[in-house]
Amino acid sequence: MGPFMQRSIKEATALITGASSGIGKEISLQLAELGVNLVITARRLDRLQTLSEELAAKYGIKVIPIQLDVQKNKEVEALFAKLEKEKIDVDILINNAGLALTTDKMQNATVAHWDTMIDTNVKGLLYMTRACLPGMIQRNQGHIVNIGSIAGRSCYPGGNIYCATKHAVKALSKSLRIDLLGTAIRVSEIAPGAVETEFSIVRFQDEDRAKKLYQGFTPLSAEDIADAVVYCLTRPLHVNVEEIVIYPQSQATATDIYRKT
Ligand SMILES: NC(=O)c1ccc[n+]([C@@H]2O[C@H](COP(=O)([O-])OP(=O)(O)OC[C@H]3O[C@@H](n4cnc5c(N)ncnc54)[C@H](OP(=O)(O)O)[C@@H]3O)[C@@H](O)[C@H]2O)c1
Repeated sequence: MGPFMQRSIKEATALITGASSGIGKEISLQLAELGVNLVITARRLDRLQTLSEELAAKYGIKVIPIQLDVQKNKEVEALFAKLEKEKIDVDILINNAGLALTTDKMQNATVAHWDTMIDTNVKGLLYMTRACLPGMIQRNQGHIVNIGSIAGRSCYPGGNIYCATKHAVKALSKSLRIDLLGTAIRVSEIAPGAVETEFSIVRFQDEDRAKKLYQGFTPLSAEDIADAVVYCLTRPLHVNVEEIVIYPQSQATATDIYRKT
């Protein structure tokens, strides 16, 4: 156990959404390193299978890769039914799957993009949480970590619907803590600033534009965010970290980034 690790989570089971890339993939890696068994989910099954083989071989843990679109409640419910049947209890749920699409103004926007962001970032998180909670409540243990954003703390040009979904993640994390009072379940939110992942490639659908966003300063890495997740999970059980807001040192707000020219 490292000097700052309070509680061992070895042999717990964590379910991670959006584990095929970026922050979710890195959380999977860091939890695997701590001996946590994993259920890794995303839409791109091939990536999950590769990661699963790698982690199981390297750390000797159990890893189950499952194709899942969090926008589809039927798929979410089927996943939890399957886990129940196989007697796999989820101790840790990481609601990480999420995305932003374009920086279009509301008046020019494509409504389908709104649906995808709301269905993934808000409804997907709700479906996962709703399906996971009965088991956690019955066992009276569990930790849900939601990946929010600084976009849930302020609004920026072109952020509109994405910012609204991340404000919702903040509100839902706070509400859930109230609803779960009297149980031993913890709820934490991690709200990052600029992290270099595939996030901006997905948003802009333009690799050069995405690359430019991270030029001239050192952005956060997925490792930095996974590290914060591990911090929350490894506190003593009476400690609930409500939220961690993390910026790169060169970023002060969603729009103020100091870039060396
Ligand atoms: N990067 C940043 O600057 C930043 C800052 C603040 C917050 N965040 C948040 O961090 C989280 C992770 O993003 P990232 O930066 O790691 O981006 P990323 O590299 O693009 O990863 C996003 C992950 O979400 C999954 N995903 C997207 N839609 C999904 C769906 N419908 N069902 C299941 N999985 C889905 C993707 O997997 P598949 O495509 O395989 O399904 C992928 O694994 C998101 O919630 C994002 O809003 C990111």
